Amino acid sequence: MRSDNDNWEIDTGVGSTALFVAAARTLAGREPDALAVDPLAEVFVRAAGGELAVLIDGDPELSKDHPLRTEEFGRPFREHQAGRTRYFDDYFHAACDSGIRQVVILAAGLDSRAYRLPFFEGVTVYELDRATVLDFKRETLAAAGYSPLADRREVAVDLRTDWLNTLQDSGFDAERPTAWLIEGLLIYISPAAQDELFEIVAKASAPGSRVGIEQMTPFPADVYEAITTVNEDEPEDGNWARLIYNDPRSDAAQWFPGHGWNAERTELDDYLRAHGHAVPVGEDTGGFHPAAINLVTVQRPN
Ligand SMILES: C[S@@+](CC[C@H](N)C(=O)[O-])C[C@H]1O[C@@H](n2cnc3c(N)ncnc32)[C@H](O)[C@@H]1O
Repeated sequence: MRSDNDNWEIDTGVGSTALFVAAARTLAGREPDALAVDPLAEVFVRAAGGELAVLIDGDPELSKDHPLRTEEFGRPFREHQAGRTRYFDDYFHAACDSGIRQVVILAAGLDSRAYRLPFFEGVTVYELDRATVLDFKRETLAAAGYSPLADRREVAVDLRTDWLNTLQDSGFDAERPTAWLIEGLLIYISPAAQDELFEIVAKASAPGSRVGIEQMTPFPADVYEAITTVNEDEPEDGNWARLIYNDPRSDAAQWFPGHGWNAERTELDDYLRAHGHAVPVGEDTGGFHPAAINLVTVQRPN
């Protein structure tokens, strides 16, 4: 279970979720009509080794029962990752087209956009995460010979604290419009920490700034209890659902308009369907369901 000041490595606790989604992006990107292709995702997974490396590189027979390969959980989850990658790639494209030159990626994890989005050339991209995650990312990419297209700056922080000064010490200018990204983060912080994070983002946003946000509706209590019950033969830290805060929380599509911003909320299910990637979801999804995910873009008027 979580505590409000816990920490992790790239392959433990919350850190391991960055590797898990990188593995899902790798598999999703190998589909013939993939919604998004992230060629760096597999570089991270391979460097970390273990069962995810077997999943992406090994004999498929060895990983046929891995959750990311199954129809019930794996397929919707892979489409979820590809869908959100595409949505936020397009979000950044539109922001850069509008003239924004400052990007802040909260909980960047193994996000590779600073290395792969051509319109990030000449843009300053701040990547915020825990030091252990940023260390793994830097060392892995340096060893593989990659360099960023953007002016990429690492900012090691705990996003449950007041991190704005540390961001500003890295060169961030709150007077310039910013495109922020909050993807794959909110479920890992408490509802109170989320509200504080929204306050900081809003406070540091010049007119014209935007925020891209991924949100998840909490699981119904009985489902959450069922999926967090650890079997005797299952390691406790292998249970993803035990890492999240499954409590009701502010909806970004309401919170930001309440502070004078415009908002547009898109249900992931609708987004996937509109892009020809509707996922049939069966009974046993391991709790995860694309209908629980929504993608939000908010903008502070000029
Ligand atoms: C599921 S990964 C998502 C990474 C990336 N945004 C993506 O979508 O691929 C969650 C990330 O959130 C980071 N994270 C969670 N809580 C954090 C906190 N309190 N401070 C800094 N980083 C945090 C983790 O270290 C991890 O890299």
